[in-house]
Amino acid sequence: MIPAQEHSATTPRVAAFDAWIRSRFVDINTQLEDRYAERDNRIDVRGIGNDLKAQLVDEGRELIAPLLDEGNTDEGFDLAFELLGNVGYYMAACRRHEITEPSRERTSPLVEASALAMHLGATVGTAPRFVTSHMETYNRAVDGVYRTFTWRPAETTFLTYNTRSAFAYMRAADALGRIHPMGVSHPAVLDLLIDARNALQDAFKLNTKLGQVLDVDEFFFCVRPYYKPYRVGSQEYRGANAGDFAAFNQIDMLLGLCSPTDPSYTQVVLEKFPYLTPDEQRRLHESFRHPNLLDSLLDHADRGGPNWFRRHAAAYLEVCAAHGAAAAQHHDDLVHNFIARPAGQIPSAHLEGITASGPPLAVLLQALEDLRDRRLAVPRDDIPTRHADIERLRSLLDA
Ligand code: HEM
Repeated sequence: MIPAQEHSATTPRVAAFDAWIRSRFVDINTQLEDRYAERDNRIDVRGIGNDLKAQLVDEGRELIAPLLDEGNTDEGFDLAFELLGNVGYYMAACRRHEITEPSRERTSPLVEASALAMHLGATVGTAPRFVTSHMETYNRAVDGVYRTFTWRPAETTFLTYNTRSAFAYMRAADALGRIHPMGVSHPAVLDLLIDARNALQDAFKLNTKLGQVLDVDEFFFCVRPYYKPYRVGSQEYRGANAGDFAAFNQIDMLLGLCSPTDPSYTQVVLEKFPYLTPDEQRRLHESFRHPNLLDSLLDHADRGGPNWFRRHAAAYLEVCAAHGAAAAQHHDDLVHNFIARPAGQIPSAHLEGITASGPPLAVLLQALEDLRDRRLAVPRDDIPTRHADIERLRSLLDA
């Protein structure tokens, strides 16, 4: 068993549950995955490994019930959020093994876990389920090993690249977010635009590498199923999504490629809030208020295009190109190869719940394509894109 790293403020019961989540829990999930992998129809997990499933439920419940009795020990955000993650991992694993199934139930049979998750969600200010930050930016490593569902290597491949890529997006968002208080003509803005471009190019490289090294079947059959929607109490919460952090949308709106008043875009963003940590929620709220760079640059162009204008506008266009390229790569490579293609090869009865957010796959793919096209600023007559404005800016540089 891996020893849980001591938190100065943690309680013995919290530490015992954490130690289980990092060891025995992973063993059981891995053994179940091994059994599913032996079957012809790998996606149908019903009735397989019932002995292991019972152990998972019972051992988890034995550790969770005393935590409920312990009540609110107010250990601060990080510990409460980590504990929510641990309860969430347990509930998500039960969902993955179809011990629970939201369409079959009106309320989660995991009564103690639901109660603890709701309590913790209310405490920290997020949805009461495990969210992407639990797997990525708040996933505490102990001796170099962070929390996972299984020991299968595809899971750490997926998560390590995702986390690194998310941080690259955060670096880009941070650089762009520093521009508006100074104004787009400030001499330091060029550095910020170059930082943002470089960070987005890093994200592109990381995502490209991820697409090369991640095993499609392993991801589809053994990683993704842990991210499905599940019920907490009577309420069903949508699944975890690699895009549940603010930076992507901050970049969209700060660049001006997506508009905070475009209803179909805003809908996508608003839906995300409960699945973000409070600091990420704050960042996302702020990006709705800030002016965008494209409008600011075009304002200056109307006034005759001063000296700095060419340099800043050229750098701005490079940032947009880098953002568009990474968005296209996500959709055309990652989503296509790791979701759409394998989904086309399994029986339609098993497509239920295939997307994290719940809509049928075709609807989700169209929504993702629309996001890609906004970020690429391609001409579309059915959704608003900044194609004409980007072309105008480019023509000013060519003049
Ligand atoms: C194998 C790798 C990946 C696959 C198969 C994948 C697939 C998907 C899918 C299917 C969705 C829609 C989720 C839903 O609503 O059900 C999505 C959304 C999203 N993903 Fe990924 N993804 C991958 C990696 C990444 C990485 C590395 C990032 C960036 C760090 C990322 C960023 C996003 C974002 C921001 C969204 C929200 C929609 C948007 O704003 O475009 N994804 N992804």
